[in-house]
Amino acid sequence: MKNLLVTGGAGFIGSNFVRYMFQEYPQYNIVVYDKLTYAGNLENLRDVARDPRYAFVRGDICDADAVRDALRKHHIDAIVNFAAESHVDRSILDADAFLRTNVMGTFVLLEAAKEFGLERYHQISSDEVYGWVDKPALETDPLIPRSPYAAAKASGDLMVNAYYVTHGVPTTITRGSNTVGPYQYPEKVVPLFVTNALENLPLPLYGDGKQVRDWLYVTDHCEAVDLVLHQGKIGEVYNVGGENERENVEVVKIILDTLDKAPDLVRRVTDRSGHDRRYALDLEKIRALGWQPRHSFEQALTDTIEWYANNAWWWQKIKRGEYREYYEKQYGERLRTSEAVAV
Ligand code: NAD
Ligand code: DAU
Repeated sequence: MKNLLVTGGAGFIGSNFVRYMFQEYPQYNIVVYDKLTYAGNLENLRDVARDPRYAFVRGDICDADAVRDALRKHHIDAIVNFAAESHVDRSILDADAFLRTNVMGTFVLLEAAKEFGLERYHQISSDEVYGWVDKPALETDPLIPRSPYAAAKASGDLMVNAYYVTHGVPTTITRGSNTVGPYQYPEKVVPLFVTNALENLPLPLYGDGKQVRDWLYVTDHCEAVDLVLHQGKIGEVYNVGGENERENVEVVKIILDTLDKAPDLVRRVTDRSGHDRRYALDLEKIRALGWQPRHSFEQALTDTIEWYANNAWWWQKIKRGEYREYYEKQYGERLRTSEAVAV
């Protein structure tokens, strides 16, 4: 494996993965293939832009001809697919692009992997495919996705498995938990709350704030994908979690304390429809491959907060664009009818 196609590589985790892989594998060439939706941003990759091992192709994973061209032109050995519509709240507002990219796009990439006889197709999936769980999910547990986003991701996973079983495409899947770190679009809760707090704007906490997520630092996520890509068993799925299950109120408290902001910034707003109370993963399978998360919850969060505090140039530009319209649609009415909450 020498030439990788990283789809969605201009997004949050994908761009961190590209940086990580160049450091770990100086002999690899990486082509980022990305549509540059609202969430894709070439500034996330500015530090590798002039690297001779790096190339960028602007393209849609649903466009079979463009995918084939990229595979042929760059002699690709393996695809790592990060490309997706990734935000649950947007999937509640409009699920159309989620089905196209997360389901049809995955199918197009699998077809191309089959046609070109690639060494590996790796799918980046999510712990959300298991749905709301009351105990850590095993890779063999049923998929019970509950949001349009999660249902589209689960459909992608099922298609990956079908191409392994039916066509012998050498696939692997990682199902990651809530990831934090540099370059995450400020619609997700941590960058949203950190950047709002830095601007003394309200932090819209959904419902009672007692929903539980398992927080994972982005470089730990990248290391796990690397390990599965190189040492994972073909046809298998691996959970990747941070072992940091926390309620949202605990996340908010750390953000406020770290930035020395008053608790009255937090506003209780109408809950997310169908809001899953808890995601949690059993990590035994990936542990057996020799991986474990390196970042504690506090480290993951404080490193992330520090990055946003030091890189206002990156997120202020985003918050001036398309984001404003989305923010008004998502939070305008919610915030106008919100109430103060003690955290
Ligand atoms: P992101 O939204 O930051 O980035 C997604 C990238 O995909 C963007 O660069 C976007 O331009 C690109 N893209 C979207 N549609 C495309 C298309 N049709 N063709 C080509 N490119 C397209 O997402 P992220 O948070 O970095 O997530 C990456 C992957 O990891 C996704 O598959 C997501 O489901 C999964 N995941 C994310 C998390 C998390 O906490 N962020 C956790 C587990 C799994
Ligand atoms: O679990 C993995 C998933 O994590 C990924 O597959 C998704 O791509 C990623 O977006 C993330 O999904 P979540 O829905 O868990 O993340 P989000 O940051 O949107 O929300 C985290 C928690 O914070 C959730 O319980 C909802 C809550 N929240 C979120 C927002 C945006 C709020 O209370 N207020 C908010 O404004």
